[in-house]
Amino acid sequence: MQEKLSTNNTVSLYIFGKKYEVPSTLTIQKAMEYAGYRFIRNCGCRGGVCGACLTMYRIRGDYRLYNVLACQASVEPGMEITQIPFIPLRKAIYDIRNIGNLMEALNIYYPEVLRCLSCNTCTKSCPQDIIVMESIQAAIKGDFKKASEISFPCVMCGACAARCPAEISPQNVTLFVRRLYVTHALSVPGNLSSMVKEITQGKFDPMLDELVKLDLTRLKEIYLKREQEPLEAGRWEPQERDFPANLLK
Ligand code: SF4
Ligand code: SF4
Ligand code: FES
Repeated sequence: MQEKLSTNNTVSLYIFGKKYEVPSTLTIQKAMEYAGYRFIRNCGCRGGVCGACLTMYRIRGDYRLYNVLACQASVEPGMEITQIPFIPLRKAIYDIRNIGNLMEALNIYYPEVLRCLSCNTCTKSCPQDIIVMESIQAAIKGDFKKASEISFPCVMCGACAARCPAEISPQNVTLFVRRLYVTHALSVPGNLSSMVKEITQGKFDPMLDELVKLDLTRLKEIYLKREQEPLEAGRWEPQERDFPANLLK
């Protein structure tokens, strides 16, 4: 039976099987706190980044099992909510700088990927709408670029690993592939290398000493004047090489 919005802008839902009435505008995470829960786990960033708040629910009358991030998903009438505190994963131990043959690496460290049934359950489970199966299949075929690009928005929530019938931990496989790809296949932009070198040589230390002495208003003023990296940065390099030192003189 489909539950309805209550007249006073609240919804009825079930948290760990117990019924609560909560404001209809809340996220699941805030609704749980409204109901009296205090998070000591299953909560981290509160901003959809850390993946700690993986939550599963069904709605009465609907056969589907939904996976969402509690800090992002809104409450709905009739939700039956549960959270899994921890999902054990298979994590290989490796030194990413000392991987001999890239094509053999996956076989050595995550041989279970070859058990993939192409069932697409991982994709269906992902709260980030990542086409997880395609990233796994691309990894198996050695297309690390494709696997890395597809899996980039992964927040490591573990939903795919909890549901995979082949017992693969897809998020750790694709994390390994992204590490392989950036370490061995991508060149480091020249701008980044020179900046890291300057930082390690202490070039910015005097400027940082000046910045920490500023009051918050002046600090904000300077921050807002920064040159911002465009969304599609490509090989972008900053023009103002002496920012914010030029504003401190
Ligand atoms: S759920 Fe597991 S077996 Fe199914 S496609 Fe994803 S990785 Fe492969
Ligand atoms: S790929 Fe797996 S671990 Fe990553 S966000 Fe999707 S379900 Fe979560
Ligand atoms: S608390 Fe970090 S993703 Fe929800």
